[in-house]
Amino acid sequence: MRIVLVGPPGAGKGTQAVRLAEKLRIPHISTGDLFRANISRQTELGKLAKSYMDAGNLVPDEVTIGMAKDRMEQPDAANGFLLDGFPRNVAQAEALDRLLQEENIRLDAVLDLEAPEDEVVKRIAGRRICRNDSSHVFHVTYNASREEGVCDVCGGELYQRDDDSEDTVRKRLEVYHSQTEPIIDYYKAQGLVVTISSMGPVDEVTQRALGALKREDAAR
Ligand code: AP5
Ligand code: MG
Repeated sequence: MRIVLVGPPGAGKGTQAVRLAEKLRIPHISTGDLFRANISRQTELGKLAKSYMDAGNLVPDEVTIGMAKDRMEQPDAANGFLLDGFPRNVAQAEALDRLLQEENIRLDAVLDLEAPEDEVVKRIAGRRICRNDSSHVFHVTYNASREEGVCDVCGGELYQRDDDSEDTVRKRLEVYHSQTEPIIDYYKAQGLVVTISSMGPVDEVTQRALGALKREDAAR
């Protein structure tokens, strides 16, 4: 399957993407994680991305689209992928459509994770991620690691993302509403959007998402 995951910062896209990708046996492609990996390797791309990310703004399209394209062209993504955080504005959605058209393939679904703003603020405030791999995501109370400050998956150090400060989160939410939400209408026009609530325990949300994707697949 080829799936796009959309939803506000803190909705649980990364948390669900890891679980869904494993169940559906497709790679999880997160542009946020790709940028963070570049930041920790101190590449030129990482330095550029960090200046935008720390301000809560989107990294420019020309950089982001090229990076996402390179990742989608890796052999493990030949039969499907789960995109997390890309596309993030209408120009990126149009660029993705062009890429898919060139390959004669199409998306199967756009999974929209809904969560109220006060909930996403609480989720982000307590989020801790792993220094080794930012797709290893925890929460100090809702999804705590077994040992405080230590990643359950790889033993890496857990820390708070630089862009999870109160001011930057406010800006990211604003950018989500103004730039990312319009892609939901863009994909509704293509009949691809499946909306689910992201409230409740993580495993329940995963089951809800799998059920919704299965119904969507059967309806095609
Ligand atoms: P990105 O890394 O994509 O961040 P985001 O979209 O703001 O989303 P988050 O990662 O904050 O939230 P999430 O929905 O993944 O939630 P999570 O699963 O962690 O992007 C960061 C930046 O990179 C952007 O601001 C931009 O600058 C740049 N960027 C990235 N892609 C770009 C693009 N395409 N174009 C341009 N710029 C781009 O969960 C949150 C917390 O909640 C965790 O602590 C988790 O444990 C907890 N949690 C999860 N589910 C539940 C639950 N059901 N109940 C209770 N707690 C839960
Ligand atoms: Mg994420």
